[in-house]
Amino acid sequence: MSSSILLGITGGISAYKIPSLVRLMVKAGMNVQVVMTLSASKFVTPMTLATLSGNPVYCDMWGERDRPSVEHIFLADAARIAIIAPATANFIGKLAHGIADDMLTTVMMAFNKPVLIYPAMNINMYNNPILKENLERLMSLGYQVMAPEKGDLACGWVGEGRMPEPEAIFLEVKRRLAPRDMDGLRVLVTAGPTEEPLDPVRFLTNRSSGKMGVAIAKRALQRGAKVCLVSGPLKVSVPVGVDHIKVRTALEMMEKVLELFHESDMVFKAAAVADFRPEFTCREKIKKGDLDPTVNLICNPDILATLGSKKWPDQVLVGFAAETTDPIENARVKLKKKNVDILVLNDVTQPGAGFDCDTNVVRLLFRNGDEEQLSLMSKEDVADKIISRAIEMRRHSRER
Ligand code: CTP
Repeated sequence: MSSSILLGITGGISAYKIPSLVRLMVKAGMNVQVVMTLSASKFVTPMTLATLSGNPVYCDMWGERDRPSVEHIFLADAARIAIIAPATANFIGKLAHGIADDMLTTVMMAFNKPVLIYPAMNINMYNNPILKENLERLMSLGYQVMAPEKGDLACGWVGEGRMPEPEAIFLEVKRRLAPRDMDGLRVLVTAGPTEEPLDPVRFLTNRSSGKMGVAIAKRALQRGAKVCLVSGPLKVSVPVGVDHIKVRTALEMMEKVLELFHESDMVFKAAAVADFRPEFTCREKIKKGDLDPTVNLICNPDILATLGSKKWPDQVLVGFAAETTDPIENARVKLKKKNVDILVLNDVTQPGAGFDCDTNVVRLLFRNGDEEQLSLMSKEDVADKIISRAIEMRRHSRER
């Protein structure tokens, strides 16, 4: 991702965390341009930030410059988004009232793209009505004010006023910069395991956490889609904005998915559906002393294959395959047999792949016989790749 970020740092103690934020952004391919106030430079050095960002750091208006008179305009024009973290009460007051008396406030005066402001200060300063009024004024002018977190404050107080951790700021920036290439698309995702009850207290299930499916739902939402997630019990939380339908068994999942299928442009079947269920579910708990403890299993319907037999031409159907032996051969068979457009092969024996971890190593198999091996990456990055391929496939099938 090549995105220019203007990172404004003002003089609060949490400025000491900003080098970690710069590292995360640079690692993700973002071009970070730091502009800091002189007070901020007392908490973290311009040299540290210049080294980590790979760009010169601007503190004041009057240093040696290549473009002496218009540097502030150049900086404002070059970035797609500005982040002010931490934002002090002083900076917020100046921004809210059009004061431009240093490099950062002057650049912000010329900045006409999205701005995220992360106020961070003592709880009493944060609750000061003057600050509140200034924040409200900024919000009414279109600035995005991000609520501080509650917790221990550097001043010894406990309460609202903490700057969020660099990881959280980074994710927010990433979310804001994501391409909105799924506007208007309706996406159906399944995730997690199913549970097949034996009796009121026991069930058959598997090790799926739901992380891969939830990552797809999250990225599709961020890219502009209307997302419905049908899932079994998940070990991760579902992002706000995703329409979440909770089910338990494979039969319940089948029913919901079939209801939603005809109104979905893309379907991602990441759920680890149980292939079998007990033939009978006992209404009472099975006791140790019961005469025959044998459990008879019967087959569940294959939801993916059912969808494959019903799909219309420009609907994109993405299936998953968890394999432990002859992965590629087995996956090629599943792709054809279930009539899917993309099959995501998960060799669950590989380190960093499969159940319950945050990374994955997958191979994508396409309907036309092409294949693409992806390297080890986070499940969110895998989700982005799969979604991008599904979008390309939909575009091609509509052009035909
Ligand atoms: N799937 C499904 N319904 C089932 C079983 C699987 O919809 N009853 C879907 C999964 O959601 C996944 C794909 O089929 O997208 C492949 O699942 P997987 O467990 O790898 O394969 P199976 O078809 O169950 O075959 P096997 O377990 O024999 O490898």
